[in-house]
Amino acid sequence: MKRVRLTINGGIHEFVVDAEKVLLDILRDNLGLTGAKQACDRKGQCGACTVIVNGRAVHACLAKVVSLDGARIITVEGLGTPENPHLIQEAFALTGAIQCGFCTPGMVMATKALLDTNSDPDVEEIKRGLRHNLCRCTGYKKIIEAVQLASRFIRGETTPDDVRPRPADGFIGVSHPRPSALPKACGTAHFTADIRIPGALELAVLRSPMPHARIVSIDTSQAEKMLGVAGVLRAADIKGTNFLKLQVPDRPVLCSDKVRYIGDPILAVAAETKAQAEAALEAVKVVFDPLPVLENSEAALAEGAVWVHNRPNLFLDQPVIKGDAEAALRNSAAVVEARFRTPRNYMAPLESEATVAYWEDEDKGEDALLVIVGRSINIHNHLPMLQEALGWENMSYVEAYCGGQFGIKIDIMSEGIAGAAAIHFKRPIRYIPGLAESMLMTSKRQAFDMQVKLGADSRGKLTAYCNNILVDKGAYLSSTASAGRALMTLSGSYHIPNVNVRARVVYTNNPWGSAARGAGQPQVSFALECAMDMLADKLGIDPFEFRLQNSLQPGQSKATGWVVEEWPFPEVIKAIRPHYERARKEAAAYRKGRVRRGVGIGAGAHGVGRPGEVAVVAVELDPDGCISIYAAAADPGEGNDSMLTQLTAHLMNIPLDRVRLYTRDTNLTAASGPAAGSRITYMMGGALMDALEQLKKAMQEIGAKTAQGLLAAGRPTRYIGRKKAQDAPAMDPKTGQGPAFVSDIHGVQLVELEVDTETGEVKILKVTAAVDAGTVINPQNMTGQLEGGMDMGVGMALREEYVAGQTKDWVTFKFPTIRDSFPMETILVQTPRFRGPLGATGVGEMTLVPTAPAVISAIKDAIGVWICDLPATPQKIKAALAALKR
Ligand code: FES
Ligand code: FES
Repeated sequence: MKRVRLTINGGIHEFVVDAEKVLLDILRDNLGLTGAKQACDRKGQCGACTVIVNGRAVHACLAKVVSLDGARIITVEGLGTPENPHLIQEAFALTGAIQCGFCTPGMVMATKALLDTNSDPDVEEIKRGLRHNLCRCTGYKKIIEAVQLASRFIRGETTPDDVRPRPADGFIGVSHPRPSALPKACGTAHFTADIRIPGALELAVLRSPMPHARIVSIDTSQAEKMLGVAGVLRAADIKGTNFLKLQVPDRPVLCSDKVRYIGDPILAVAAETKAQAEAALEAVKVVFDPLPVLENSEAALAEGAVWVHNRPNLFLDQPVIKGDAEAALRNSAAVVEARFRTPRNYMAPLESEATVAYWEDEDKGEDALLVIVGRSINIHNHLPMLQEALGWENMSYVEAYCGGQFGIKIDIMSEGIAGAAAIHFKRPIRYIPGLAESMLMTSKRQAFDMQVKLGADSRGKLTAYCNNILVDKGAYLSSTASAGRALMTLSGSYHIPNVNVRARVVYTNNPWGSAARGAGQPQVSFALECAMDMLADKLGIDPFEFRLQNSLQPGQSKATGWVVEEWPFPEVIKAIRPHYERARKEAAAYRKGRVRRGVGIGAGAHGVGRPGEVAVVAVELDPDGCISIYAAAADPGEGNDSMLTQLTAHLMNIPLDRVRLYTRDTNLTAASGPAAGSRITYMMGGALMDALEQLKKAMQEIGAKTAQGLLAAGRPTRYIGRKKAQDAPAMDPKTGQGPAFVSDIHGVQLVELEVDTETGEVKILKVTAAVDAGTVINPQNMTGQLEGGMDMGVGMALREEYVAGQTKDWVTFKFPTIRDSFPMETILVQTPRFRGPLGATGVGEMTLVPTAPAVISAIKDAIGVWICDLPATPQKIKAALAALKR
């Protein structure tokens, strides 16, 4: 032990520490300075814990306190507060560089260290200064812009007041900083792991190392005797069904008799400290009886294959049949055939899958309220799932700030185990898994294997499309929503008169798959868009013109037979034309030699608003003249807080700071569906408008200006708004005909890249995205979603694949760093939606749909080979080039 004296944010503190104590624990646990985050397993990979020690940016997770005696330390809390922020914090908020905000405190501190030594860094110097800090949401573009703006502030060239939008600028089409930006920049926004509950037990969970096995025996006798251990939670201790049912009840909170994938949870040890719980976990002994492992869909469908559950491995077999595709292909002038595969992938939010559970009114015994605090994007759906699984009725769900999710939080992860432990031990619980465990427990983007045929007539008009899709669902179903979305959008942007598609969703012993950004659409879009290029090539038609001439038109139907009312795809793709022509000319000069340039385009139409779905928002005129909004609109980084406040300020003609938001608590809001599928602006924005219009009407009818005036006239101050999407018949199980999304968002992306023909390395030179954004409420939020999605789409195309047992951290995941970032340009084609609020819609999911096919098409353009099996790693590119030479 050693006594250490530190100056932290100007205050002097003394600690007695052992040799292993790291600065991050002192800051978070001893001082409650939770601005510094942990987003890797203390491996120095994420930078979320960055603080300044003696003028240098340091990873607080690695800095041993014993070596810091006398050090001067600044944390993000020491720079500024939301009321009095530092110029760097202001710059991050004003440039839209903050989405989920989990990376932001570390980014701010790395920026401070950089600008303290170089007040005018160029882009390369910024990239070097922030190279240890990861961000999943932004694609780094706006982070670089934030550093540039901060440097201008610091040099006195401009001020935040010069840059900040004013109320007179209006609230629609204006980039007011989102309400949560400064709390995130200043470290005062609390994420789940930041929440401390007195007396809470910490959990460590035993997860299966086997992909498929029977549990023969579990011995916890040694573990239960260890220091600090409160006990062990097993499946038998759970009072409810023990199954988390989104669509079917197949996923246990804890496994009882069998494990079905590497990472399946078996039991939890609860102890006074996390270290004690983890130590005890080491002493648990489990004997497994291995079962045959189903490594992919084909193996799971093979004759005699072992069943993963007590039912056949084929869960769903859904065709989509329109016209006669086989006959149309026979009569086509050109047909292409290819097999496309997309891998299983982790969506990689920076925040771990943390849950805190605590009791309110503990003295009420069986009537005590169990409060679950977590990262859900669908609190009203997850609450009854937990009540049923855990067998406890009096429960509420509170959403903390959420460090990114990209679709995966449509499912429950750690909440079930934390809640079950709270009930079993009658204590508050903190379950804060690290990155490796979060990777194990979370759902993955599902692997698709697609056999495609696409035909066209001699004029270049599409005739028919066939796709035989195998969806590797992994060990648990969760829901078939991604497969459904894939089927409802499989004809992409185009009019295809004849379609014959079959999708089979199959249980295997892989990590379970569920929603992931784009939800099934990136996979089918990859296949269709690449086939479009192959067919254009066969017909000798420019791929750009081929897409344009095959656009669906209003009055024509998609693959599911749904006739569309609006289809602005031609306007969107035409916005890309000048960029496409310029890029092709430039690339023509690099057709020979070791490094070759290529240009590719991809398109996609992402559906918003499932038929018949409903959103509900309540608004209330408060006695002080503010408007309170009650809406279960989770905001894991998209900017839903901006959308709700800016729409309200615009419609009620009040300043933004007169709008209050209550969005995170099941006790304050009504069920409105998930913050997924880019639906919140369209659906919740519509419900908000409905509620505000009722309030305005009531005020106008009696000439009231205040809540008191309404009450005096006997009128309510609270109004409930609803938005219901158009009804449509359910998908016909034999033909797939029927439904479609209410609105489609169109995107076209142009990728320019270089391929090194010796190493197989790909360098992205630029991505240009055009999107029919509808009426844009906050341009910075809109372009931020597009930029982050493009970065993620490039990752899907070139790098990312989750391999169970091998992908364990950000290095093995190949997380993109700021050094991988590339120039991006966004073009917002403002084509108002027929039924969106003020014509607005969301774009967060569609933004990565066109990226992967555009990248793969550009690689083909550069070196003449198709990589149809993602990701297009250097090894695959080199192998394809070698095969070309043979
Ligand atoms: S937690 Fe320190 S670098 Fe990741
Ligand atoms: S804003 Fe950077 S990780 Fe979300």
